[in-house]
Amino acid sequence: MTELLQADTRGVARAATLLRGGALVAFGTETVYGLGADATDDRAVAAIFAAKDRPRFNPLICHYASAETAFADVVANNDAHRLAAALWPGPLTLVLPRVPACRVSLLASAGLDTIAVRVPAHNVALALLRECARPIAAPSANRSGKVSPTTAQHVMAELTGRIAAVLDSGPCDVGVESTVLDLSNAPTLLRPGGATVEAIEAVIGPLRRIDHTLSTATPRSPGMLASHYAPRLPMRLDAQSVQHDEALLSFGTPLLGSAITFDLSANGDLTEAAARLFDGLRMLDDAAASRGLARIAVMPIPHHGLGLAINDRLRRAAAPRM
Ligand code: TXA
Ligand code: MG
Repeated sequence: MTELLQADTRGVARAATLLRGGALVAFGTETVYGLGADATDDRAVAAIFAAKDRPRFNPLICHYASAETAFADVVANNDAHRLAAALWPGPLTLVLPRVPACRVSLLASAGLDTIAVRVPAHNVALALLRECARPIAAPSANRSGKVSPTTAQHVMAELTGRIAAVLDSGPCDVGVESTVLDLSNAPTLLRPGGATVEAIEAVIGPLRRIDHTLSTATPRSPGMLASHYAPRLPMRLDAQSVQHDEALLSFGTPLLGSAITFDLSANGDLTEAAARLFDGLRMLDDAAASRGLARIAVMPIPHHGLGLAINDRLRRAAAPRM
């Protein structure tokens, strides 16, 4: 049963307790309702993708109660500080490099070295974030392929029974998602949204824009680039056996004979496997490279539930490099 919580002190406290315990809670922001999970908890983040039926791991936005707490997890440059001072709280998301000691799950950023951070302009959301005292990863709270919800009833209609609670803070004011701005290189607009380009350019000057007319057909699309994490070593998928010069990413009972193995899930649990995927790829890539191994072999992953997103990511990681 999904709890429908009122946006009062008790409701916020209940939502925070659930989130801190690793459960999923949808909450309103000024843009759309987000499907929240503790961003520092790999399993909670994996559960977001399962609840949404998402066939893909895309990087999620991490929400914070203040610029100060957001900038503890990323390397904020001058532009970031100026934009935060001018436009936060508000519908602007900044993509910045992780700090080395970053607490945010690698799955939340789909294995990237950057994270998208934002401080929402909504009193209930801010109260919830303060009470949680940790970053909350939240994509829009809809099933995959459906439109973003702007009321608690929209969320209930699609996600009831799949998440712990919805914190009902009434309809969202803005109704479109936040603007996503990449500040990890020359400032680049990745997604137009609630904060206007004019307002952003008034603070930091001209932005680069991604040409969306080019992006759908070609592999250079921002979504693909943004979410692409590939190990340096070649990968061999659906391995039925393993060679002694290969590192092994195992699922279920590991194949014997590899130089080094990372278990995604010894008992074949897809949520656990999703939670461990990016840590596993990075760990094996580093370990295998330092030992001069040739490849990463990957055992077959079932093609259902979160297995779809895991396989999608593995296929992309294994694709030939340009
Ligand atoms: O208004 C919003 O932004 C809502 C509310 C809930 O805050 N959230 C939202 O999240 O729309 P989501 O997950 O649906 O959209 C995240 C966007 C995607 O376009 C994703 O590619 C981009 O942010 N993104 C996230 N992390 C990124 C990263 N590290 N690098 C590049 N793009 C990133
Ligand atoms: Mg969305």
